[in-house]
Amino acid sequence: MADGALSDRVCIVTGGARGLGRAYAGRLHAAGARVAVVDVDEPRAREVATALGDDDTARAFGCDVTDESAVAAMVEQVTTTWPGLLVLVNNAGGALLPAAPSESIDPESGWDRVLRLNLTAQWLCARAVLPPMAASGYGKIINIGSAMVPKGWPAGLSPYMAAKAGVVGLTRALAREWGPAGIRVNVMAPGYVPVDTPKVVHDPEAEPRLRARIAQEQCLPRTLVPEDLCGPLEFLASADSDAVTGQVLTVDGGWAMAA
Ligand SMILES: NC(=O)c1ccc[n+]([C@@H]2O[C@H](COP(=O)([O-])OP(=O)(O)OC[C@H]3O[C@@H](n4cnc5c(N)ncnc54)[C@H](O)[C@@H]3O)[C@@H](O)[C@H]2O)c1
Repeated sequence: MADGALSDRVCIVTGGARGLGRAYAGRLHAAGARVAVVDVDEPRAREVATALGDDDTARAFGCDVTDESAVAAMVEQVTTTWPGLLVLVNNAGGALLPAAPSESIDPESGWDRVLRLNLTAQWLCARAVLPPMAASGYGKIINIGSAMVPKGWPAGLSPYMAAKAGVVGLTRALAREWGPAGIRVNVMAPGYVPVDTPKVVHDPEAEPRLRARIAQEQCLPRTLVPEDLCGPLEFLASADSDAVTGQVLTVDGGWAMAA
């Protein structure tokens, strides 16, 4: 991409304090964007923003994206701080629960909680950025899905899988509804990318076997790293993808299609 390809835009990255979101924030910032590092873990978001640059180009905003009023307040703060073209990367998410048979999952503390973080929160954030995007006649929403969806595997992740499948439907619905307002809505669907965040989803002893199996199933037989996702994300955030909407960009080393 051209140097400074994003210098005209303000990017909100939810879940930007750790893992893939931190990598996305770094890439968007390096491409010239002003970056709002949004996370429920505000101290860590602040560390990320401070490491990126000064207050004019990177700032932390503490926000629980599952909380509608907190999301509205966060978008208000970001747009007051930096008026201008908006990009929303709906990245905050995660499986939350240890992998378990679907019939054992509790409806409220399991299913609803996972759906709330991985699907409803993306809708809440998208709704909140609609007014400023519509006012500009332009916007980019990148919803983070998962390459697991077309495979239905690994087992034991039914609420997460259902939420990420829902992200595809939500994306297509919003792309249709908001396209006339100049708003592009796409999914980026990563394959398996180990990050340094402690997670309960995979048994730590089984994780290396899972990692090796997935790498071997990919067309490109190597474990992916967060940087593998950053170029595709930058593309979806940039003017180069202005004719792309309602799409799923799968970045998985050729895993899902190799089933
Ligand atoms: N890592 C992978 O292999 C992989 C694969 C496919 C999809 N994904 C998706 O990519 C996204 C990031 O994954 P990751 O592995 O980097 O996760 P991670 O756990 O490393 O980071 C998630 C970040 O989201 C934040 N967060 C969690 N709940 C939040 C809330 N309610 N409000 C605001 N922030 C919240 C966390 O504090 C954390 O900083 C998720 O949507 C995940 O489902 C990851």
